[in-house]
Amino acid sequence: MSVECKVPGANPIAKSPYRLAPLEMQELSNQLQELLDKDFIRPSYSPWGAPVLFVKKKDGSFRMCIDYRELNKLTIKNRYPLPRIDDLFDQLQGAQYFSKIDLRSGYHQLRVQDEDILETTMLSTDYTKKLSFNRYINDGDLVIVYEKHDNMKAVKVCEKSVLENRFGVFKHSDWIGKPYGCKVSSHKGGFVYLLSPTPELWTLVLSHRTQILYIADISFVIMYMELIPGCVVLESGTGSGSLTTSLARAIAPMGQVYTFDFHEQRAVAAREDFEKTGLSSLVTVGVRDIQGEGFPEDLIGLADAVFLDLPQPWLAIPSAGEMLKQDGVLCSFSPCIEQVQRSSETLTSKFTDIRTFEVLLRTYEVREAKMDQCQGEESTPGSQRPCKRKHHAGEANHWQQDNSGSPIVMARPSSEAKGHTGYLTFARLKCVASSSSRVASFVA
Ligand SMILES: C[S@@+](CC[C@H](N)C(=O)[O-])C[C@H]1O[C@@H](n2cnc3c(N)ncnc32)[C@H](O)[C@@H]1O
Repeated sequence: MSVECKVPGANPIAKSPYRLAPLEMQELSNQLQELLDKDFIRPSYSPWGAPVLFVKKKDGSFRMCIDYRELNKLTIKNRYPLPRIDDLFDQLQGAQYFSKIDLRSGYHQLRVQDEDILETTMLSTDYTKKLSFNRYINDGDLVIVYEKHDNMKAVKVCEKSVLENRFGVFKHSDWIGKPYGCKVSSHKGGFVYLLSPTPELWTLVLSHRTQILYIADISFVIMYMELIPGCVVLESGTGSGSLTTSLARAIAPMGQVYTFDFHEQRAVAAREDFEKTGLSSLVTVGVRDIQGEGFPEDLIGLADAVFLDLPQPWLAIPSAGEMLKQDGVLCSFSPCIEQVQRSSETLTSKFTDIRTFEVLLRTYEVREAKMDQCQGEESTPGSQRPCKRKHHAGEANHWQQDNSGSPIVMARPSSEAKGHTGYLTFARLKCVASSSSRVASFVA
């Protein structure tokens, strides 16, 4: 048996979640956790989201209800002749296997047609659940196969496929149902880890079609652009979508990222990547010359934040200002200080609180060495005195007793300096205190 929700051509219904009392929030959290643990539900980024509410039962407990009334209005009703109950019993003759449905969460146990799953999403105010990732690997999921910290790749799980690498042959069917983070073995005993495709890991495995932003810059950008769930963010250029993936997670589940690149193939490839990573409902990718034409007019006054990673960002700044809501934040990434200077000059007329940060990367070499080797290292030009960390008193004693040949862990700054990743310039749109219109708040 499966449920069919036919809504031909209908646009997703977007309804805000209902306000829940603290007790109801707690109950929602508990019930969602129980359903997640049983694998009856999973987190979703579907744009269809019906709000949740609670009805108090006679015994004082809460019944969780999902308000599908709007979806029901669009659904074409199924019409079946009701089977006769005695016919049904007759058909059970000789049956050996029986299953039962616990009607307390019966709805979640009915199979829904694949193409209708998106419409059955429930929208709760429990954002932590919407943002968490699946705990168990399903057929069709994207997993990050981890061999070493510098050797990972994204693989789509397909029950009939295998992964072959230097450690042997791994059957995908062995992965299904296992928790993310698990260690799986090949036919010859080699192993890899299967990790969840978080934006942090995706940035390390995505295919580079352009230079990309890495975590040091990305985390700074998300923090200083003050992104929270529900925000609307504009971005250009999309490039390889490294930043976009993290922007999408920051504004999920109800926000939206509009990202633009003038390079059509890059935009198409980015769209495909967002499909793969399950973020397509949160990201709209457009093909547009943002330096030449600016952002589209239908986004005027809608953006909480605008991010620019363009060769001549100062050309896009006036349009970015028009897109921002009152008080909105702009951030521009530039690899060189000349770009920062030109952008800052353009920013001064309409923005305030202009700040530029240089993001520096300093890597450390970490290795094990014997104590005597370690002392030798101290005199190496450019190296720093190694520092032994004492975690426990017991460990410290151990060092004192046996400091001749035991290995210790040493770390020192890498001799090859990577230098900076770039400059991040942030600015806040100036606003006119008395203005009621968002667009008018843009100081001319
Ligand atoms: C360095 S990449 C952006 C990388 C991206 N931040 C990431 O993390 O993956 C710069 C992108 O800007 C795009 N671009 C350059 N000039 C543009 C313009 N005038 N309008 C729109 N996109 C532009 C390029 O095609 C390129 O894909």
